[in-house]
Amino acid sequence: MNAQIGKFSRLGFVLSATGAAVGLGNIWKFPYITGVYGGGAFVMVYLVTILLIGASLLIAEMVIGKRGQQDCVSNFETLSNGKRGWKYAGFTLFTGLVIMTFYSVVIGWIFYYIYLTFIGLPTTIDDAKNVFDQVYAHAPFLQIFFHLLSVLFVGVVLLGGIKKGIEKTNLILIPFLLFILLGLLMYAMEFDSFEKAVHFMFAPDFSKLSSEAIIRAVGHSFFTLSIGIGSIMTYAAALPKRAEIYKAGLMVAFMDTFIALIAGLVIFSFLFQFGGEPAKGPGLVFISLPVIFAKLGMAGTVIAFVFFLAMAFAGLTSAISLVEPSVMYLEDRLTWSRKKAVFWSSFVYFVVGVLVVFSISDGYKDLLTFGTKSLFDVLEFSVDSFLMPLGGILIAIFVGYVMKRDIVEGELLGHMGNSVFKIWYFSIRFIAPIAVLFLAYNAMKV
Ligand code: TRP
Repeated sequence: MNAQIGKFSRLGFVLSATGAAVGLGNIWKFPYITGVYGGGAFVMVYLVTILLIGASLLIAEMVIGKRGQQDCVSNFETLSNGKRGWKYAGFTLFTGLVIMTFYSVVIGWIFYYIYLTFIGLPTTIDDAKNVFDQVYAHAPFLQIFFHLLSVLFVGVVLLGGIKKGIEKTNLILIPFLLFILLGLLMYAMEFDSFEKAVHFMFAPDFSKLSSEAIIRAVGHSFFTLSIGIGSIMTYAAALPKRAEIYKAGLMVAFMDTFIALIAGLVIFSFLFQFGGEPAKGPGLVFISLPVIFAKLGMAGTVIAFVFFLAMAFAGLTSAISLVEPSVMYLEDRLTWSRKKAVFWSSFVYFVVGVLVVFSISDGYKDLLTFGTKSLFDVLEFSVDSFLMPLGGILIAIFVGYVMKRDIVEGELLGHMGNSVFKIWYFSIRFIAPIAVLFLAYNAMKV
């Protein structure tokens, strides 16, 4: 590994891996799918999956990275016990760039909404729908501008390497994000509707639970923990040899879940208090919330600003983790300079991102629609139902069956203890692969 880019400190690693995990998935997607799929029972499935499968896979990915200390391709190759073909599993690292083609566009929308808090938020739902629709479908160049801002931010951080770029950014942004969300939570706790929000999120009504909801909950638990494309593996590769990953893994899974639940509680408290419906879908935070914030006058503007800022921080720290696996691969394996690696990775997802923007813009979208799906949908769908499950299952099989058991034990046993290790190993060998297959199979049908 290139010594210049540095290694993580313990805290730096936990915060950066938390930064990778906590993203738009937590603040934008989790609340809206919870709303769509009816609340409590959905949340329950999500929590159980994180506990039984998600956290185990997260730790498995850390084991590969920590032990391999290199880029994903080299990690799979050197730890494969001579089965060198496994190196191809490492190429799942490019999924990060695929995700970035739309993830960065959505971060761009958030930037735009931060800007909107200065010039005035929409005050009625119809207004808000118009504003969102205007950006989403009628302003490709505006979107490209904000998408480019996000690409540049991420690029500059990546140029700084692990220590001075990634660790430093996360050490600042993640505490900030926590502070903002906890502040919003305290504010929301004063509302009469807070209890209603708690009830909506935690009282399970299993009659509302469809099989589609289960698939969504399982799929989302992978996405939210950043499993399967080498983000966490790449970060773990920059850990000092002595660092231990079991507690770090639990901590990251806990923080990720905690922040999603807080974001949900805040958003639903506001919705119930000021009259919005929970089942609004993707427009939840872009349409329903701004109107509520606008009703609260000056205080609302400030709340809107910090809320969107928190969301931007969450998105950017995840974005960094989505691109770093490619950068590290190009740098280590192809011996490119970091500058060149950052430039070309950024360039590729920027350009495809531009196509993604046009694929949802009136006037251009016909060119970029395949069947009934826009390029945006096609990419998101292939990530959710194919690329991520693929990455997840490869990791489970690799750690469960290909890597030598004593190497895996060496990373974990001392910290986990024998019985926890056995449970974890069982989950990696049997539960996780079956769950991922179930997920992939069913996702194809939805
Ligand atoms: N977990 C992030 C979110 O919730 C997104 C993300 C970052 C991700 N790195 C990842 C998803 C790796 C899958 C794989 O928004």
